[in-house]
Amino acid sequence: MARLPALIAPSILSADFARLGAEVDAVLAAGADLIHFDVMDNHYVPNLTVGPLVCEALRRHGVKAPIDVHLMIRPVDRLVEDFAAAGASWISFHPEASDHVDRTIDLIRRHDCKAGLVLNPATPISWLDYTLEKLDFVLVMSVNPGFGGQAFIPSALPKIRQIRKRIDALRREVRIEVDGGIKADNIRDVAEAGADTFVAGSAIFGSGDYPATMLALRRELAAAAQAATA
Ligand code: DX5
Ligand code: ZN
Repeated sequence: MARLPALIAPSILSADFARLGAEVDAVLAAGADLIHFDVMDNHYVPNLTVGPLVCEALRRHGVKAPIDVHLMIRPVDRLVEDFAAAGASWISFHPEASDHVDRTIDLIRRHDCKAGLVLNPATPISWLDYTLEKLDFVLVMSVNPGFGGQAFIPSALPKIRQIRKRIDALRREVRIEVDGGIKADNIRDVAEAGADTFVAGSAIFGSGDYPATMLALRRELAAAAQAATA
């Protein structure tokens, strides 16, 4: 199947939260496709971030780009509804954090959001049995969730290849998003493994020059796409 166009999703976890609206405007002006919004509850993961109020504030600020809400919370369902009302476009959750995974996927889709299942580094892809048919994307964690700025875990690559095979066999347009430790020096390998949606937090917000960093990431993605057609 033809590959979907590559999307880059800066993670606001590494942004300057005192200037969040301006930071989001700046990465969008630099060419970001969607905004990755990490939600942590100090329960499912050992860190605490932001909730639906902040998502809604970005919408009121004028952000039109899709907001990709990554829920690292337990329980999941009530906040799905709150985030959908707050303007989320994509919503993903960790299957270990939901008592009824199929119900949570349905809930996300009923709210007209794209539904994603998140696989931690040690979470097997068997969670895609009975779920892949309903998902809009699979989010492969290439770090353990909870913090920005961690090193990419290479076992994500064979995992992405296996998921890509399953999606291609299904002949459905399901995106593979990858989150954690993505930088200009490894994004090409991740793309060649079969991912099409790339989260980058510290690589973008930690750089002094967002347009230059986005360009460097795009160049690597273009090289991967060219190699695939050669
Ligand atoms: C980690 C978060 C990531 C994080 C990625 O739990 O889900 O989205 O912001 O940050 P980097 O790109 O710095 O690894
Ligand atoms: Zn994330």
